[in-house]
Amino acid sequence: MNINWYPGHMKKTRESILKNLPLVDIVFELIDARIPYSSRNPIIDEILGEKPRIIVLNKSDLASESGNKIWEEYFNRINKATALIDALNSKGIEQLMKLSLKLTEQKREAYERRGVINRPIRAMILGIPNVGKSTLINSLSKRKGTKTGNKPGVTRSNQWIRTKDGLELLDTPGILWPKFEDKDVGLNLAFTGAIKDEILDTETLALKLVERISASFPNNLKDRYGIEIEGKTSLKIMEDIGISRGCLIKGGNIDYTKTSNIILDEFRKGQIGKITLEFPRE
Ligand code: G4P
Repeated sequence: MNINWYPGHMKKTRESILKNLPLVDIVFELIDARIPYSSRNPIIDEILGEKPRIIVLNKSDLASESGNKIWEEYFNRINKATALIDALNSKGIEQLMKLSLKLTEQKREAYERRGVINRPIRAMILGIPNVGKSTLINSLSKRKGTKTGNKPGVTRSNQWIRTKDGLELLDTPGILWPKFEDKDVGLNLAFTGAIKDEILDTETLALKLVERISASFPNNLKDRYGIEIEGKTSLKIMEDIGISRGCLIKGGNIDYTKTSNIILDEFRKGQIGKITLEFPRE
């Protein structure tokens, strides 16, 4: 999904989330474990206020294990409930459910005191495009999910999905706009495919990605493409990748476009290995 975010569009999105917020007990704020900072919406805290929330680091299967640990510890340190998941393979869902129960305990107890037993936890998923919202909804609803249909007196357009974990999930996620605050954030979003608008041409983007990976995860490139990294410029590394993949055009020159597409595609699919692109800034 590709959305151009205009101020009017942002305002509408914000209003629609604010309208749905009172219907749910908890929010799952989905971010990309490879770029936890860049993939957070800039005004999410303001939108959510005091609503219980879990920061869900998705695509943890594509991020480095040490990176996942560092981010998990970071969010714990600043008192933000965090769950590390891989929505595609339904991993980490138990932890997410456990945290959801914990964070909604008081509310559930209050209901029980009023005689409402086993009331499901109502949740809403929010996140920027491509972060895995639909995948998580599918994964949760596969857990013996049933659509519960419209709730009379609530709102006609909302559908809820009941999961076996005792969750009722709003079936339409809130799509938030990404940050566009600086060059690095834009690059991170483009590397991971969160923004598909060309912020840079493909070749420059791939070159920048090679620069980033070779600085922090050189062995991943070495292993994937069978090339040497040490002492080489990013351009040379990119050319060696092109040669190793037979991306050549007439006269034996490198086909840079084809090479760039391979690098970006394989990175996004996790084929260059588990890579975290940013770390806490503190
Ligand atoms: P969205 O609703 O937030 O926009 O995201 P969506 O679920 O459509 O997921 C976007 C892409 O990310 C999908 O790939 C999906 O399979 C993948 N994805 C979601 N969660 C995970 C995860 O935990 N791990 C991995 N490895 N991938 C995940 P796609 O169908 O190939 O779409 P696209 O990349 O071609 O857009």
